[in-house]
Amino acid sequence: MANFINLAFTFLMHALLPSLISIIVLLVLHCRKKLRWLYNDDGDDEIVPPGELGLPWIGETIEFYKALQKNRLFEDFIAPRIQKHGKTFKTKLMGCPTIVVNGAEANRFFLSNEFKLVVSSWPSSSVQLMGKNSIMEKTGEKHRLIRSILAPCLGNAGLEALVPKVCEVIKAHLLKNWGGNNNSIITNNGKEKIIPMYKTAKFLTFKVICECLLEMEAKEELFECFERVLEGVFAPLVNVPGTSFWRAKRARAKIEKVLVNVVRNKRKNMEEKQQEFGDESENLSSLLSRLVGALIRGEITEVEVVDNVVLLIFAAHDTTSFAVAMTFKMLAHNPHCYSLLLQEHNDIKANKTKEAENLTMEDVMRMKYTWQVARESIRLCPPIFGSFRRAISDIKFDGFTIPKGWKVLWTAYGTHLSEEYFRDPMRFDPSRFEEPISPYVYVAFGGGPRVCVGYQLAKLNILIFVHLVVTYYNWSLVQPNEPIVMDPLPFPSQGMPIKISPKTC
Ligand code: HEM
Repeated sequence: MANFINLAFTFLMHALLPSLISIIVLLVLHCRKKLRWLYNDDGDDEIVPPGELGLPWIGETIEFYKALQKNRLFEDFIAPRIQKHGKTFKTKLMGCPTIVVNGAEANRFFLSNEFKLVVSSWPSSSVQLMGKNSIMEKTGEKHRLIRSILAPCLGNAGLEALVPKVCEVIKAHLLKNWGGNNNSIITNNGKEKIIPMYKTAKFLTFKVICECLLEMEAKEELFECFERVLEGVFAPLVNVPGTSFWRAKRARAKIEKVLVNVVRNKRKNMEEKQQEFGDESENLSSLLSRLVGALIRGEITEVEVVDNVVLLIFAAHDTTSFAVAMTFKMLAHNPHCYSLLLQEHNDIKANKTKEAENLTMEDVMRMKYTWQVARESIRLCPPIFGSFRRAISDIKFDGFTIPKGWKVLWTAYGTHLSEEYFRDPMRFDPSRFEEPISPYVYVAFGGGPRVCVGYQLAKLNILIFVHLVVTYYNWSLVQPNEPIVMDPLPFPSQGMPIKISPKTC
């Protein structure tokens, strides 16, 4: 028996020991490699950027969110780390090692290498609420196809015909809710009225995208559902009654029900017309008809149409409304800029023969100074501070290696608030946009293959809204120093109340 045990042991030692040793060696090498990624800064060719990974899993998430909520991400989180470690540094956010990159070169590198070296990376809650099938989750050929469906009606040529309609929608809302010189208005002292500017801008940009591009009624109830969903997009993924994510999921289900109906009705209409008049009858001018046209041709599915409509509504109204609000805030703080801007709009108005005549694309093109003011406001207060990418292979950048699977965070602050790109960067100075800005320096609308597809619509919306407000009303901020907070996107903490009175001439 003892001999047998001896024999078995000897056999095991000969047969298995080499394999065991190999496994241990491989494990040690693997762990060393991992540890080097995480902690090494000792001069071999695979150095990760410097920085701190903080506590296990949590990393520096708490510091990051605290700064974000106060709308001080740059001042309290990014700038101190740039000073300590340089423009490219590591941190750990929500369990993920993350490299924060800053500067035009970094923007160019990561934004233009979308799909090649990095892919956009959103939290799971955002993906579930915006929809797995929206453009933000698509890569390669499918991404290209969806952009080619959306882009034609969101470019200048596609939007030209919409200018009068956008004017009508905004004008009707203002006259009904803000009053006009011909309307009897309810006022607090016979003349003035207090209006929540941010909420108005939000509802109006929602109304413009629904009624002008998606051929659907912008009901208050639907708008409120979008508000509920927004509250859950960066919330912890806890789907139990009472949590933000749970409420957001329920609101998303309601939105989906409405949109499925809209899409099916549109499909039925388009198919009936096609049968009656042939393929040429397809009216592809609206965003909805282009999406449903692609559905009929079998290029995309119904779920893809619905998810993209949800994403477009979000992408359009939460961003544009903040840009509008910040433009007014900056104008209130810079009366000299306001006089110049007002002159531009009075000139445009003076060219109109009839009081109620709508603007044209040509008028909008003439609002050059206003667009400088809006761009400068967005430079200082970007509606989207940046976004996350995920490395799909090991990446060499700035003398460092970013390991495959790590996240990369680019931010607009990295260039917008840097002396290297904008002289006296914290000063509000619209004239900086008189000259062209170098590529990847002004990145409020992103860059590369994922550059904002709604840029022209946002511009049109902001300019028309500003025109109608400044030519119809006298206005002033009720709380000039109202703080801006973030949850999850930036907004004025009190909804930016403004005092208005209709202009008499
Ligand atoms: C002031 C207003 C706006 C700002 C500041 C803004 C900003 C941005 C930014 C920074 C990105 C790139 C995100 C990334 O790289 O991860 C983006 C993408 C996008 N935006 Fe906008 N946006 C605005 C208005 C709009 C409007 C009005 C629409 C729609 C009509 C829109 C639709 C989109 C879409 C669909 C994408 C994703 C594009 C893709 O993945 O290919 N945005 N936007």
